[in-house]
Amino acid sequence: MAFTFQDFPNARDDLRADVLAGLAAHPRTIPPKYFYDDAGCRLFEAICTQPEYALCRTEQALMHARLADIAAAIGEIECIVEPGAGDCSKVRLLLDALRPTRVVLIDIAGAPLAAAAQALASDYPAVDVNALAMDFLRDLESAGPWLSAGERLVYYPGSSIGNFPPAAASDLLTRFRHLAGPAGRLLIGFDLKKDPALLHAAYNDAAGVTAAFNLNLLTRLNRELDADFDPASFRHYAFYNPVAGRVEMHLVSLRPQDVNVAGTRFHFAEGETLHTEHSYKYRSDEFAALARAAGWQPAGEWLQDGFAVQLYR
Ligand SMILES: C[S@@+](CC[C@H](N)C(=O)[O-])C[C@H]1O[C@@H](n2cnc3c(N)ncnc32)[C@H](O)[C@@H]1O
Repeated sequence: MAFTFQDFPNARDDLRADVLAGLAAHPRTIPPKYFYDDAGCRLFEAICTQPEYALCRTEQALMHARLADIAAAIGEIECIVEPGAGDCSKVRLLLDALRPTRVVLIDIAGAPLAAAAQALASDYPAVDVNALAMDFLRDLESAGPWLSAGERLVYYPGSSIGNFPPAAASDLLTRFRHLAGPAGRLLIGFDLKKDPALLHAAYNDAAGVTAAFNLNLLTRLNRELDADFDPASFRHYAFYNPVAGRVEMHLVSLRPQDVNVAGTRFHFAEGETLHTEHSYKYRSDEFAALARAAGWQPAGEWLQDGFAVQLYR
């Protein structure tokens, strides 16, 4: 079993600076990458099992059903790179089908990544497993030395691309081209535009798991930035905005209140929002246009129940 774990101090996120800047802005906003402390990672996995949140299940069903086709369209590759690998569960199917010699798993949440990647390494002793703890928005390029020289596939499932507004998504897709290299490929999964009632239900599950995930951000800030948010005085509020084509997730202040964060005081008016996530939804042709503009050529598409997986070269 070959396993390496590498932490990248030069590509570490800057929670304090980002949160102070985001709270000073109007509307107030915190980047969604900060959801993923240990509790946030566990809550995200629980979201994926909620009956209303079909996204993960549908993607997995699609990948199972079409794996042979998808693998044939990808062809021979030596290395899979997965930015935002989370619990490293989705890459397993591709390891079975494509049999690369190396996998590079990148995530901002270092400890959960290390545990998941180590488990992967013991289940796939023939694969060289490399886990890189970094904020890929800061310094994706420092992953370079861990990539193999041969043909590479960048795998970006789970509709994570939806967390970026289209211009930022296009930038990220351009950076993925460098990660993939000249003969590289990109396999990407994203949620399609659909009945707003389904989207609304998906981000407002009856068990309150998405609400807990959203509110956990405040608990994280209390712990890591010496803040004094009262999570009970904020309401999880998520809705689909069909004009912008995105689900917006907010924490809305239920009363006028002052909050101290890392020594700075912020006033929230009653009803004022802290915006925590966008989740853009696309038509398949809209997304293809975005990927083409970032320099990728379409090489395959598989659709199932409101979810798309597309392959690019
Ligand atoms: C929505 S989860 C998806 C996890 C997995 N890829 C899946 O499809 O189930 C997003 C993952 O990306 C990671 N992530 C988010 N922003 C990141 C960033 N800027 N750099 C590195 N990892 C990031 C999170 O920690 C989390 O594990």
